[in-house]
Amino acid sequence: MQKGLFITFEGADGCGKSTQMKLLKEFLENKGHEVVITREPGAIGLGERVREILLNYDGEVSNRCESFLFLADRAQNIDIIVKPAIQQGKIVLCDRHTDSTVAYQGYGRGLDINEINKLNNIATNNLKPDLTYLFDVDIETSMQRVGQNKDRMESAGKEFFNKVRHGYLELAKNEPNRIKVIDSTKNIESVFEDVLKEIKNYI
Ligand code: TYD
Repeated sequence: MQKGLFITFEGADGCGKSTQMKLLKEFLENKGHEVVITREPGAIGLGERVREILLNYDGEVSNRCESFLFLADRAQNIDIIVKPAIQQGKIVLCDRHTDSTVAYQGYGRGLDINEINKLNNIATNNLKPDLTYLFDVDIETSMQRVGQNKDRMESAGKEFFNKVRHGYLELAKNEPNRIKVIDSTKNIESVFEDVLKEIKNYI
């Protein structure tokens, strides 16, 4: 079976990962690769509805319920979009994935990291990204970029986002081969140069 490439984009809200994902998509397509882009939460159909709840529901949401909703959306994304595309030899670029749940629900909300790892493995059927970009920015920059119009997750506050950032950096320390930290305070062009440096080892 032909095997494609699974690349995930991670980082705090406002880190600029979505812009970099678009640039990388264009770059790869210009080189003749078939590229599929997806996102979590909310890749398609049902996932869009789950996304709507996760980002806009204004009643009480327990931390465990929040985690399971992200995980349910992930299972759908893996089964319907990511896995089939990889089996067809395509390159999948995914805006947020398993590391988001560890950083946000684990480090941020304080849920047990080992449990989240187990649940992530169930949701993904043990499919792991080949490469993960972690776009790292300080909390002030990230909050400035998000601005005033915040969704439910973005309204969690500065202390929460400090924990999320710390969590992401811990993850990168533990898995340096997969997770590449990109200094995302620089301008778009310089950040993209760093993105390209990492992809060269995979294509
Ligand atoms: P989104 O608008 O996609 O944010 P961004 O553009 O910054 O990626 O919203 C996704 C939000 O959900 C974001 O605040 C991170 C959060 N999230 C989790 O808390 N856990 C998860 O497992 C995932 C995938 C996202």
